Amino acid sequence: MKKRIKIFDSKNALSNFFAEYLLAEINSSNNFFTISLSGGSTPKMIFNHLAKNYVKKIDWEKVKFFWGDERCVPPASDESNYKMAWDSLLSKIKADDKNIFRIKGEADPFEEADRYAEVLKENIRTGNNFPKFDLVMLGLGEDGHTASIFPNQMNLIADKKLTAVAVHPVSRGRRITLTPALINNAKKIFFVVTGKRKSKIVYEILTKKNDSINYPAELIDPAYGELFWALDKEAANLLT
Ligand code: 6PG
Repeated sequence: MKKRIKIFDSKNALSNFFAEYLLAEINSSNNFFTISLSGGSTPKMIFNHLAKNYVKKIDWEKVKFFWGDERCVPPASDESNYKMAWDSLLSKIKADDKNIFRIKGEADPFEEADRYAEVLKENIRTGNNFPKFDLVMLGLGEDGHTASIFPNQMNLIADKKLTAVAVHPVSRGRRITLTPALINNAKKIFFVVTGKRKSKIVYEILTKKNDSINYPAELIDPAYGELFWALDKEAANLLT
């Protein structure tokens, strides 16, 4: 696995780097480009940046949009990751409606997890007999979670399914998430992490010297792809 860590002076510089990277990746892909979006404050900031500066620069009709996780709420809820992406980016660009594949948070979680797995199989190119995203964007929680893989769900690493139902350890709210097995098959995986609150967990994950796995984000270890950590200087505060 190729891992790269990049530290930016500002959140704006990080957003701009992600946007330029996405532009280059989309331009160089044949036919269509598949991306898995994330919830969270850093992805939202990047979506706003894209909506402000890349509406015309990127050929959005080429892009198929998926989600790494969703809360089990209706799409109009302020908790919905789909709503966040729609409000901040998708409603503002020329995306093709048929290329927006949301996770239906309003449906029965177990049925929806299975339905979404089929959607992924039908709409994403495969590699190693598994759907292979061109790009997976991930946030990082202060407890080390990513997508909706929480510390009480480390067993998901053994799950060979594409999707799973998760329970938030504090709110007990249900979520639907992509599994590490699916995420790790992606061509490129991009963690985007900002803010001082994340500096401790970033330090713990990125400076670890042994093979033990303590946090869900450490399950993200692409077998053939590239792993990118984009941090602002606050999140990277404890790294030397
Ligand atoms: C979600 C996410 C989750 C998120 C992290 C970071 O829906 O909550 O997909 O994995 O990216 O919790 O969130 P913040 O950037 O808001 O800290």
